[in-house]
Amino acid sequence: MKRIILGITGSIAAYKAIEILREFKKGGEDVICVLTSEATKFVTPFSLSTLSGNSVITGLFEPRNTPIHINLAASDVILVAPCTYNFIGKVASGIADDTLSSVISATTAPVVFVPSMHTNMWENKILQENIKKLKKLGYYFMQPETGRLSTGKVGKGRFPDSDSIVKKVYQIINQNAKTDLSLQGKRIIVTAGGTQEDLDPVRCITNKSSGRMGYEIARESIAQGGDVVLISGHTEIEPPKGVELIKVRTTEELANEVLTQASNAHILIGTAAVADYTPVNYENNKIKADKLTIKFKKTQNILKLVRKKYKKLFIVGFALETDNLVDRAKAKLKEKSLDLIIANSVSSLGGLNTQVTLIDKNSKAKKLPVLPKSEAAKQIVDWIIKKIK
Ligand SMILES: Cc1cc2nc3c(=O)[nH]c(=O)nc-3n(C[C@H](O)[C@H](O)[C@H](O)COP(=O)(O)O)c2cc1C
Repeated sequence: MKRIILGITGSIAAYKAIEILREFKKGGEDVICVLTSEATKFVTPFSLSTLSGNSVITGLFEPRNTPIHINLAASDVILVAPCTYNFIGKVASGIADDTLSSVISATTAPVVFVPSMHTNMWENKILQENIKKLKKLGYYFMQPETGRLSTGKVGKGRFPDSDSIVKKVYQIINQNAKTDLSLQGKRIIVTAGGTQEDLDPVRCITNKSSGRMGYEIARESIAQGGDVVLISGHTEIEPPKGVELIKVRTTEELANEVLTQASNAHILIGTAAVADYTPVNYENNKIKADKLTIKFKKTQNILKLVRKKYKKLFIVGFALETDNLVDRAKAKLKEKSLDLIIANSVSSLGGLNTQVTLIDKNSKAKKLPVLPKSEAAKQIVDWIIKKIK
C-alpha cells in the first residue's frame, strides 16, 4: 500500500480530483487529501474525507502532536491535481505559506503537478518559465489537454482524464522505488485473455483462458520498471495498476493492435489464447438450430506476422498443448522465429496455479514446479530479463 498525498488547488477542475481519489482507493492505496484554502470553495472536504477514509488537511496551524507538513512529506508521492497557475508560481518561487506548499518544500518524494487553467494562463510566459525551472529541478508535470474549457472556448488547459493521471503516478512511483529496475526504459507488449470469433450476432467461439497469466506478467513487468501496454481479450479480472490497457475481442483485432504497438516496443510477451480458426461466414441473423455445419478457416499467425515485420523485437511466445507439450513448444519457437517460449500445462487453463517449462533458442528447457500464477510470472519475467541482457 502506498501513501499518496492528493493536493487539490483552486481550479474549476477540482471536483475531478474525486475520480482520481476513487481510482487510488480502488487500488488499495492510503490517500490523504490536502487542500489549499481556495480549493475548499470548489470541492468539499466532507466528500473527500468520506471517500478517502482520512481527515482532509487544509490548515497548517491546527493543533497536532507533530508538524503536519513534515509528517505528510514522508509519503510515497505528492500529486497536485488540479494545479493552479498560482500554485506553480508559489512552488517555483520557494514559497511555503500553506500546508500543501509546505509539504512540497519538505519532501524528498516525487512531486507530480497536473496543471489545469484557461489557455491564456497556460500560455503565459511566467508560467512556462516556472514549469521549465521546476522540471529542471526534478519535479514532474503532466501536459493539460486541448478541448472545451469551462468558459466554453476551445484551447489548451483542460484537465487530463483520471486514468492517465493515475497511470502516470504509478509509473513515477515505480521509477523512484528502485534505482536499478531491470526493465526501465523498455516498452513491453503483453497480450492476454481469450479471443472471441463471432458466428452470428448472438454466439461466438472462445476458449477457457482467464487472462490471469498475462495480467500477472504485466504486473511484474511494471514492478520491474517497464512501460507496459496490455492488449487483452476477454477476461473477468482487473488490470494491474499503471498499465496501458487496450481491449480487443477477435484475433484480427488483436493482430492489428499488436502490429501497431510493436513499432515502438522492445519486448512482446504473447500469452493470449488466440483462436486458431474463425468461421468462414458471419451470419447476420441468429443461426437456426437446423443448420448444424459451420465452416472454419485458419486465423492469422500473429507472432509470425510480427516477427516478419519487426526483426529486432524480442518475442516470447506461449504454447499450450494436450500432448507432447515441450516438443511442440520447441517446434513452435523455431517455426515462428521466437526468442523464448513457455510451455504451459493445460491444467492451468482458467485456474490460479500453473506449471510451466521455460525454453530458450538453444532448446534448453527449465521446468518450474506448480506455482501460483503470480509467482510463476515473477520467475518468467526474471528469466526474460536475464535473456535480454
Ligand atoms: C470560478 C473560478 C475558477 C478558477 N479556475 C482556475 C483554474 O482552473 N486554474 C487556475 O489556475 N486558476 C483558477 N482560478 C483562479 C484561482 O482560484 C486563484 O488564482 C487562486 O488564488 C488559486 O489559489 P491556490 O493556488 O492557493 O489554490 C479560478 C478562479 C475562479 C473564481
